[in-house]
Amino acid sequence: MAKSTAKALGANGCRISFLDTQREYLTNVGAHGLSDFYLKKAPLDARKSIPEVLDGEVVYIADAIKDERIQHPQIAKAQRISSILAAPIMAKGEVIGEIRLYTHDPHIFSEDDKNFVVIVANISAVLVERDELHRLLESGHKGVKEQSKLAQLPTISLRPAEFAHPSEEEFVRLLDFYQIEWLYEPRAFPLRWENGGIVEMFTPDFYLPEFDFYIELTTLRQDLVTEKNRKVRRLKELYPEISIKLLNKNDFLRLLAKYGYGSLGEAKLQGIDRILLTHSQIQRRVKALARRISGDYEGKHLVLVGVLKGVIFFMTDLMEHLTLPVTVDFMAISYYGGEEDPVVKITKDLDSSITGRDVLMVEDIVDTGMTLNYILKYLQAHAPASLRVCTLLDKRARRLVDVPLDYVGFEIPDEFMVGYGLDYDGEYRNLRFIGTFHPELAGKDESQK
Ligand code: PRP
Repeated sequence: MAKSTAKALGANGCRISFLDTQREYLTNVGAHGLSDFYLKKAPLDARKSIPEVLDGEVVYIADAIKDERIQHPQIAKAQRISSILAAPIMAKGEVIGEIRLYTHDPHIFSEDDKNFVVIVANISAVLVERDELHRLLESGHKGVKEQSKLAQLPTISLRPAEFAHPSEEEFVRLLDFYQIEWLYEPRAFPLRWENGGIVEMFTPDFYLPEFDFYIELTTLRQDLVTEKNRKVRRLKELYPEISIKLLNKNDFLRLLAKYGYGSLGEAKLQGIDRILLTHSQIQRRVKALARRISGDYEGKHLVLVGVLKGVIFFMTDLMEHLTLPVTVDFMAISYYGGEEDPVVKITKDLDSSITGRDVLMVEDIVDTGMTLNYILKYLQAHAPASLRVCTLLDKRARRLVDVPLDYVGFEIPDEFMVGYGLDYDGEYRNLRFIGTFHPELAGKDESQK
């Protein structure tokens, strides 16, 4: 696709790249006419490199070396890149990647060229969606679950077809468990030059964007370890701004503990099958929700209403990032009458009147929708000026009552979750991430929940 597009538009090179799941880096999935070194020059920070494309714009850059939107102008110069045309790849209204065309000589792209590249981008998006659908069908999910999983896949996972070493695969399983974003061999560092040419390069195995460091895995073979140590030392001398670690699996587990992943200790993690949302993923999403809400209610005073206790973390973080004047109120409820036919009773009412006020109901999770349905009716009876709902988690597959949700953090699968306010038998609320919980793994009895 990259080759044909470059040829059709008279360009010397073309690169198709996709955003990682955190939407911070662009990773190459296809290229033509660009050197390996150029493609692996560094993980391309999506916000630093032609950021307008992320807003859905087609961008034409006449002179790449002089344009401040280019992240690595020196490397562009060395590659003889003059003009660039960049277009977003969109799926479900969201930018998921980019297609860029490069020319050696200054080049003017016509409106027809721009339209053509947009069509190519659209075809790429269709192919990605088809591939995701295919993978989901292959993975054997059926019915409702399948649809709801598909809806939460804004980006594709960028995995190499195969890893160079089995230890890398094992390492990736560990990263995936902790939901730590990784890029495989994203950058090659020249280490030695002779007669103006590069004679030695070093490509670290992984880059972890969240921690901003590279990782080179070690094996047990001492001769290789010595050689790798030499390369890592040399890399540090030549590129002091780069952080790189030479690790084996145990070193990595120790490192995770330092960053707060393992610090909860074995006992507390018992019962947690996998981490669905890391603390930083949650924080990023909460900030984005707060930005949207702040925009929608600009010039207004908002009353936030939460139902205790699960909402405490989410309410705190959401409030912190709202740029509006807000007041906050809490309600508490209890259920009686059994699971089949539960009756809701308010055990703590609002402290202040909401009549004529703009009210945003904040929930940690909407499951069957029964709680929200009851609370919304109750709040509506107090005649607020407006009433909307913001929930961090939407477990749509379990819905029994149709409730309107205006702001949703994440759609989640039908599994039991704990952490970030969510509890099992009153515990686990204080975990900084959200994980799937299996009582039998913790030696607990299902009925305790
Ligand atoms: C959770 C959550 C919601 C409700 C959603 O509260 O905070 O209020 O369940 O479930 P539903 O959509 O099926 O009604 P929970 O009763 O677990 O109390 P907690 O917040 O004190 O943990």
